Order: sequence, then C-alpha cells, then structure tokens
Amino acid sequence: SDAISLYEAIGGAATMDKLIPAFYERVGSHPALTPIFPEDLTEVARKQYMFMTQFLGGPPLYSEERGHPRLRRRHLPFEITPERKDAWLECMKAAMDEADIEEPHFSFMLERLTMTAHHMMNTP
Ligand code: HEM
Repeated sequence: SDAISLYEAIGGAATMDKLIPAFYERVGSHPALTPIFPEDLTEVARKQYMFMTQFLGGPPLYSEERGHPRLRRRHLPFEITPERKDAWLECMKAAMDEADIEEPHFSFMLERLTMTAHHMMNTP
C-alpha cells in the first residue's frame, strides 16, 4: 500500500483551513514581521495555502498556478534577518498548535519548516 503523506496524516484541507489563517493572524501582529508584509495578507495567505499543501505532500496546487516555487529567490526583495526567521517560526509553531497538529507529525513538520526558513535568510 502507498505511504500516507504528512498532509493526509495531519488532516488535509480541513487542517490547512485552520493553520493558514491562524498563522497570518500572528504574522499580522508580530512587530518583527509587519514591516515586510503587506497590510492585506489575503493574497499571501492564499499562496501559502497552496504552497504548504504541496510542501506536505498534498496536491501540487502552488506549482499548478505559480510554477517552480523558487522560494529563496521570491524572498530576496525582503530583508529576512535571523530575528525575522525566528519570528516566522514562532508564529508557525503557535499556529500548528492551534490547528491541533499532533506528534509525531508536529515535530517532523516543524523540522522541515525550520530548514526551509533557514534557507530563506538573506540579511545578517
Ligand atoms: C511570501 C516573509 C519564510 C513561503 C513571503 C513574503 C514575505 C515573506 C514578506 C511576501 C509577501 C508579499 O507578497 O508581499 C518570510 C519570512 C520568512 C519566510 C520573514 C522567515 C524565514 C518562509 C517559509 C516558507 C515561505 C519557511 C515556506 C515554508 C512563502 C510563500 C510566499 C511567501 C509560498 C508566496 C510566494 C509567491 O509570491 O508566490 N514571505 N517568509 N516563507 N513566503 Fe515567506
């Protein structure tokens, strides 16, 4: 039988529907992050929903619309410092809690996101 994806294991679209709004609610009020994000987070939340779905092994929604993710390049216009990387991960961790993502999936997902977030830093 096929291995079940992390996406399916954490509850699929129903969990994304909780995770993504919970994340941007925090991003939108975090003092380290508001200077680089737009005031209206609707569009970035929509893109993150598509990306995260694909990143966790669900349907490739992001690439269907946006092509190759090229995430580091897409983040170059924004100053991503170590402090902002930590803030992003803090918001995500709290959102993952709120979305009821449980162990062992919680740790595995956070580990993958931590590696990706490190890769996004572009400013000392
Ligand atoms: C877009 C910040 C990490 C996925 C953005 C934008 C900012 C941002 C400012 C653009 C908002 C706009 O459109 O004006 C950050 C910061 C990070 C971080 C401070 C800290 C390390 C990540 C990580 C992921 C990610 C780890 C994926 C797991 C995305 C996606 C977009 C985006 C998918 C939309 C790209 C597009 O335009 O298609 N991010 N980001 N980001 N971010 Fe991040």
